[in-house]
Amino acid sequence: MPELLHHPLASHVLTKLRDKNTPAAEFRALSYKIGLMLALEATKDLPTDVETIDTPLETMDASVLGEGLAVVPILRAGLGMLQPFTDLFPSVSVGYLGLERDHETAEPSAYYNKLPDVTSRRVLCVDPMLATGGSAVMALDKLKAAGATDIRLVTIVSAPEGIETVKAAHPDVPIITAAVDRELDDNSYILPGLGDFGDRLFDT
Ligand code: URA
Repeated sequence: MPELLHHPLASHVLTKLRDKNTPAAEFRALSYKIGLMLALEATKDLPTDVETIDTPLETMDASVLGEGLAVVPILRAGLGMLQPFTDLFPSVSVGYLGLERDHETAEPSAYYNKLPDVTSRRVLCVDPMLATGGSAVMALDKLKAAGATDIRLVTIVSAPEGIETVKAAHPDVPIITAAVDRELDDNSYILPGLGDFGDRLFDT
């Protein structure tokens, strides 16, 4: 099972994201908000280092973030979850994977791949909707081919089918999500879901 984000605020934000009457401006703000919560969840076990610092009163050994971090949104919907990561972790490296799925077959193909050094750092692959899992598997394939060994997949809504597909292909990659929905429809949309995330985010 994926790691589920459990927080009343996350449930509230998700409800507003699902509501078809939520306009694009609010949808963007809500995506940012739930992205912040997911970013914290996906990094709660980040390795830390110890630094010796002087408080105004004493010298102490204190915890600071250790290894670097990379975030890789899958274009284009993943862009709606990028800013929370760069705001929380200003020195995060950012890569982009452009994957699109054929509307008839739902098969993914890559049209853009620009990654930072993904070796020896936590890589957070972000895509709001884990539907068939085809795009996620391809993204994880590409991250591993580039040398990534510590990867998390971060999504907002996940379908059981997508979770199964990712788990089968990449059992070592934890999935962090805010919701596991019921199923996919015949067009590979998640039910009940929230519709086309990219269309609602970009008002297309
Ligand atoms: N992508 C979306 O934006 N929505 C879905 O329901 C499935 C894939």
